[in-house]
Amino acid sequence: MHDAHLTNGVIPAAGTHGGDGAAVAAALGMAPDEMLDLSASMNPVAPDPVPILARHLRAGVSRYPNPARAEAALAEVMGVDRERLLLTNGGAEAIALVAAEIGGHVVEPEFALHPRGGGPLWRSNPHSPSGLLAGGADLGDERVAVWDEAFYQLATGEWTRGDRDAVVVGSLTKLLAVPGLRVGYVLADPGLIAACRRRQPGWSVNGLVSAALPDLLSTVDLAASARGVRELRAQLTDVLARYGIAARASDANWVLVDSPGLRERLAPHGVLVRDCASFGMTGVARIAVPTADGLARLDAALVAAEVAADVTGQMAGPVDRAAAGADRDAHAALLQDSRGPTPGQRKGRAPTMPTRSASMTAAEVAGPVDRAAAGTDRDAHAALLQGSHGPTPGDPTPRERPGRAPATPTRSTTTGGHRPRPRCAAEPDHRETSSPPTESEAP
Ligand SMILES: Cc1ncc(COP(=O)(O)O)c(C=O)c1O
Repeated sequence: MHDAHLTNGVIPAAGTHGGDGAAVAAALGMAPDEMLDLSASMNPVAPDPVPILARHLRAGVSRYPNPARAEAALAEVMGVDRERLLLTNGGAEAIALVAAEIGGHVVEPEFALHPRGGGPLWRSNPHSPSGLLAGGADLGDERVAVWDEAFYQLATGEWTRGDRDAVVVGSLTKLLAVPGLRVGYVLADPGLIAACRRRQPGWSVNGLVSAALPDLLSTVDLAASARGVRELRAQLTDVLARYGIAARASDANWVLVDSPGLRERLAPHGVLVRDCASFGMTGVARIAVPTADGLARLDAALVAAEVAADVTGQMAGPVDRAAAGADRDAHAALLQDSRGPTPGQRKGRAPTMPTRSASMTAAEVAGPVDRAAAGTDRDAHAALLQGSHGPTPGDPTPRERPGRAPATPTRSTTTGGHRPRPRCAAEPDHRETSSPPTESEAP
């Protein structure tokens, strides 16, 4: 259930962080799982953590937390001395503790939570937002004193770059794909670790993390995760290219694209990407490397967004209205066709993070309809769209692109139950202008 006042059809403006998929879904009247949140970048091949967490739930919530065992387990898998490691409530707490101890500054653009005052230089590696691993030349003359390695394992297959003379703030959020769990760490000399430990509020690392982390860590395969990210990132780049969207080079589990308005175009079709305006990068979107299933959903959303753009101003059929975000039920049906079962029908984990073998390709993991939606079977894809749209002779055809099956919107005789396309908070409401509303915008 959503708060009624949130369900207003207006896409909330992007904030300083990603991960606002549930809020945008609520505003658009969708269930949270209907929105694939690619505005936060998680490990797309992470094993499902829920069975392990479920096993530890009772012990995790019925006692006050003692993270000692979990901290020791992390030190062991990372191969670092225990006195050099502090387990924290997410990478965010690691950043806050170190920033409070030693301060810091950044070279913009840089991750929003890093300190911006006096003190040593902080740098995310791979760099947020560019997604590039730190080389030599790009670092300039100033020595980096604090490395934020929140995404390092996924970019390299290694736990840490291992700069002994620097502080490392890290996160297990991305690697384990558990943004709600809150688990991160500081890796530093024992003196700074002791100071951060004194500063850390009691019971900051919660009971579930304390109980379940050793088992969660036993599922980690860094090399397989990094390989899975690399393969899926290449597939993501290919899918985007089919829509004329060029991904910038990236070492991370996301890519940047220059595509103004992409967030607003895709959100009504159930995919949220990150707008990089908060980094001062206008017109740039950041897209998390999705699971194979997510890639199919993104592909379907790109088709739907293109169809919606092509039919704007024309009389649209039920599916076109759905694709334009005007008819939630039909939209859900269309998406379900292309995604397979809804989360409620699926066993196990929510669709944004299904478990996939790192060696499987999108085509291998997808069924015929998913493969079609993933663009691996052009004929089936065209048939899927045509089947949904119901072809009508003489229909307008959206612009075609070589190598991609054209989606064929249908002129419908249905005119009732038509709500306006959702709009972005930052987008002017054309209904308030003097020009007459188009049919698709008419209330
Ligand atoms: C570069 C970087 N560092 C740290 C964090 C914080 O991670 P956590 O979710 O574990 O607090 C993030 C989260 O997005 C991040 O992007």
